[in-house]
Amino acid sequence: MSDKRYNILLLGSGGREHALLKKLSESPVVGKLWVAPGNGGMWQEAERVELNPEDGGAVAQWSREHDIDLVVIGPEAPLVAGVADAVRAAGIAVFGPSQAAAQMEGSKQFAKEVMERAGVPTAAWRSFTNEDECCAYVRELNGPCVVKADGLAAGKGVIVASNVDEALDGVCQCFSGSFGAAGDTVVVEELLVGPECSLLALTDGKTLVPLASSQDHKRAYEGDKGPNTGGMGVYSPVPIVSDEELAEMIEIEQRVVDQLAKDGIDYKGCLYGGFMLTKEGPKVLEFNARFGDPETQVVLPRMEADLVEVFLAIDEGRLEEAEISWSDSWAVDIVLASAGYPGSYETGKPISGIDKAEKLEGVTVYHAGTRLEEDGTLVTAGGRVLGVTAVAASFEEARERVLQACELIEFEGKTYRRDIGLKALGGRAAWEM
Ligand code: AMP
Ligand code: GLY
Repeated sequence: MSDKRYNILLLGSGGREHALLKKLSESPVVGKLWVAPGNGGMWQEAERVELNPEDGGAVAQWSREHDIDLVVIGPEAPLVAGVADAVRAAGIAVFGPSQAAAQMEGSKQFAKEVMERAGVPTAAWRSFTNEDECCAYVRELNGPCVVKADGLAAGKGVIVASNVDEALDGVCQCFSGSFGAAGDTVVVEELLVGPECSLLALTDGKTLVPLASSQDHKRAYEGDKGPNTGGMGVYSPVPIVSDEELAEMIEIEQRVVDQLAKDGIDYKGCLYGGFMLTKEGPKVLEFNARFGDPETQVVLPRMEADLVEVFLAIDEGRLEEAEISWSDSWAVDIVLASAGYPGSYETGKPISGIDKAEKLEGVTVYHAGTRLEEDGTLVTAGGRVLGVTAVAASFEEARERVLQACELIEFEGKTYRRDIGLKALGGRAAWEM
């Protein structure tokens, strides 16, 4: 066996990246770990680098100068900006799809066109670049629909409208520049109903390895009320998904990867499918070109694999050789947010109690919006501050443990949903009401 150790640069600063970092740091072949820009909690595992993660040229040059063997890209913005292409062109292995492949997330219209060619079930849709035509179509629908800014809008460019007025308001927001250039093209689609399910999968452009299913809670308040957020909590696996539905979701993702290959696009990385489990079967809500946040915080802790080896296998197009299995456990993650999120909130509040929370069995605290001050104080620095994950032998136990852990952590304005996973305990019937 070779004793090669791989130096790794991770791009990103959220809870997802902290979870990736922890898993990478556990690999027997990991060398030195770097992170750019990182957050207040990644210093045990990695050294921070002052680098703009969206500047492909700078990332590639710095990586060459520091003997980096693998660059791991967490968020969507660097992918859509073509950072993976720049790193690959420099001859360095990279985890994350090319700019062309990342269009699956970067343009909702592009994703819909791929889905159409692949014959994959998704909401009926039309796209518009003209506001008057878009409004006329919304009036014609004369009922609930979903209005989406085409481009990246940090999770905010989707308006789920229950009537024509809300939809028209959404169209106006998009075309008036509320989401920047992302709203120059607008997709209007049919409103789907049912439970949502995320299925992340790893692919090297040929082989697709599905990861465990997970269910995000996007709304800000308990009972799935309030505005959409980046995600307030998540659990894995999803007990309400049937084996048939899971098989269909996997097949849908494989068809998309195959279609992209036919179109001349080699998708290497994580393909994140967001699905609505409708009465007619799973339908795609969206694709993301990266790991989910907070989905990663429940999927990776249950995954039994050497993540460095897996990422290298993907880069080299030999994912079929990778060894990945799953622990027979349940994971629940609750996001501790700053009061006011997803609207405006205060930052700079000292955080305490993480060490006490992590003493509970199976509990890990992932940092997101945190910052380490020069005097060593850990303070809040974002809307989603921490992700608290508990892994346990049963779903109920994981839920209880994570709630216990959340109580032990303190910061001014701490808010969180205590109902993460509660609905699923009621079974599928809870969605029929
Ligand atoms: P997206 O970023 O496209 O996943 O949209 C964000 C959220 O909006 C999803 O997680 C769903 O909760 C909701 N959503 C998106 N598209 C639809 C749809 N066609 N029908 C119902 N809800 C939707
Ligand atoms: N949790 C939703 C996302 O990562 O897009």
